[in-house]
Amino acid sequence: MIIAVTRRLPVVATELLEGAGLTVRMHDADDPPSREALLSLVDGADGLICLLSDRVDEALLDAAGPGLRVAANYAVGLDNVDLEACRARGVAVAHTPGVLTDATADLAWALLLAVARRVREGDSLVRSGGWSGWSPLQLLGASLAGRTFGVVGLGRIGAAAAQRARGFGMDVVYTGRSRREREEVRLEARFVPLGELLEVSDVVSLHCPSTPETRHLIDAEALGRMRSSAILVNTARGDVVDEAALVDALREGQIGGAGLDVFEREPVVHEGLVGLENVVLAPHLGSATVETRGAMARMVAEAVIAVLEGGTVEHLAVPPGGGA
Ligand code: DGY
Repeated sequence: MIIAVTRRLPVVATELLEGAGLTVRMHDADDPPSREALLSLVDGADGLICLLSDRVDEALLDAAGPGLRVAANYAVGLDNVDLEACRARGVAVAHTPGVLTDATADLAWALLLAVARRVREGDSLVRSGGWSGWSPLQLLGASLAGRTFGVVGLGRIGAAAAQRARGFGMDVVYTGRSRREREEVRLEARFVPLGELLEVSDVVSLHCPSTPETRHLIDAEALGRMRSSAILVNTARGDVVDEAALVDALREGQIGGAGLDVFEREPVVHEGLVGLENVVLAPHLGSATVETRGAMARMVAEAVIAVLEGGTVEHLAVPPGGGA
């Protein structure tokens, strides 16, 4: 059986797949295949390991043909996969929840601290040779202890980010589709409507999935409700934020700063963001640790093998055969 793998992955994935007697057909590169190359890669495959930048839609499923039984997305987010199309064709869908929780929460905090403490500007100053020595008023940032951390989406990653906030002495408020009562108790977090969260938070950290409902959740109006000193952190998906409105809000001082790991049109970044001092930008690094990317590779390979061998898999977004 053939497994199409759309990018070079940590070697454990290939080892597991080949160890199970499967043939790996890999786009053996770090850059994405063209759409045409992707469609030809999946032709006749029984299994697919894809990335968040690969659109798994009707056209791709057509190109794969009726033999495709499983698509495993090398990400927790599934916004690139048409789950209903997969379900209708009996293609199981796996993803990688759990193993990237801490890595992504760490990155949210790395961005937050970098913005709050002006690390990027400090780094540039030192490298430029322009630093003339310690100075009482140089690059003053914001303290976080005693401030309010607002979480949009208290799922696994949101809760892990909130836990870090508690460790930094911050109060936590959160919003989402439903209340998470156990987490509320554990994190001493208060559930509030989005509008209130925007108004009371010193940090707004986004951890919700990209869905039609969350697209541009943070738009001009939402940004207008935030504090002028507030920092926006996005490690979720780019389209949760209206990037053009964010550029305006940052330029006009409507909010204090932003730490962004994800963008609306990756890898294209709104040019307005690039020129701003109060912004730290990362190239979608949320899960990018050696340990986490290895665990993700293991997870997708094991899911493909289990589905093809008729075994059980935790965390399937669509069960084998589409679940009908
Ligand atoms: C995910 O898993 O959805 C991240 O964005 C990529 O690691």
